[in-house]
Amino acid sequence: MPILYTKKIFSGYGDLRVLFNINFSAEDKKITVVVGPNGAGKTTLLNTITGVATIHSGEVVFKNRRLNGMPPYSIARMGIAYVPQMGNIFSNLTVEENLRLSGYFLSENELLDRLEYVYSMFPVLKEFRSRRAGTLSGGERRMLAIGLGLMRKPEVMLLDEVTTDLAPKIVKKVLETVVRLRDEAKLTIVLVEQHAARALQIGDKAYLLVSGSIRYEGDPQELLRHPEFSKLYLGIS
Ligand SMILES: Nc1ncnc2c1ncn2[C@@H]1O[C@H](COP(=O)(O)OP(=O)(O)OP(=O)(O)O)[C@@H](O)[C@H]1O
Ligand SMILES: [Mg+2]
Repeated sequence: MPILYTKKIFSGYGDLRVLFNINFSAEDKKITVVVGPNGAGKTTLLNTITGVATIHSGEVVFKNRRLNGMPPYSIARMGIAYVPQMGNIFSNLTVEENLRLSGYFLSENELLDRLEYVYSMFPVLKEFRSRRAGTLSGGERRMLAIGLGLMRKPEVMLLDEVTTDLAPKIVKKVLETVVRLRDEAKLTIVLVEQHAARALQIGDKAYLLVSGSIRYEGDPQELLRHPEFSKLYLGIS
């Protein structure tokens, strides 16, 4: 059962057209991986779902409700957390101040519950709760960015390039966290990734997006053997 899907979406920014006829769906409590080269429109797909991009035609549906035309904050409140590519961390605030800010609309009791939950998922954030976020390592920052999304008790998490520019060992750690978000936190995950091969290993379903169109939809392992994928990622034609 898809909890979230797009139907015949054409979207972009103002008059600019970026995505063409996208039928995308994310199954409940599964990891859906979206890979594709730079500029393919991966971030735009997430921006389309979250009300940031311009929808020219088609629809976005979450739990049987149409999201078209809704502002980003309403979509966030419905249970879709967006961890953007550039991060949304305030470097001058401490780790805990960042987390509190993300859950600003919660009551103090809920906020404390939620903080404990995030700290149990990411003990490193608890350890560094009083440190300025700007002093965190790359991997720790990604954990914090995911933690910010978790503060809002989402059902769906959209993760944009959470492993980019990290050392292989840290990439592995972050992806293990993503698996825990599915298996322990029971979240539906959409994972947009450049580290395509590793992301595909943890995915339940995969999409290959090229030049604003879906070129492949299906089993992640099979995508690894898909000729177009090899061509794009390994330079084999
Ligand atoms: N805010 C924006 N306004 C106008 N054009 C944009 C905007 N954001 C992205 N674009 C354009 O849309 C196209 C798709 O970009 P997008 O960021 O979705 O690609 P991507 O697949 O996420 O790439 P990357 O792997 O580099 O993150 C690009 O041509 C880009 O220049
Ligand atoms: Mg992007």
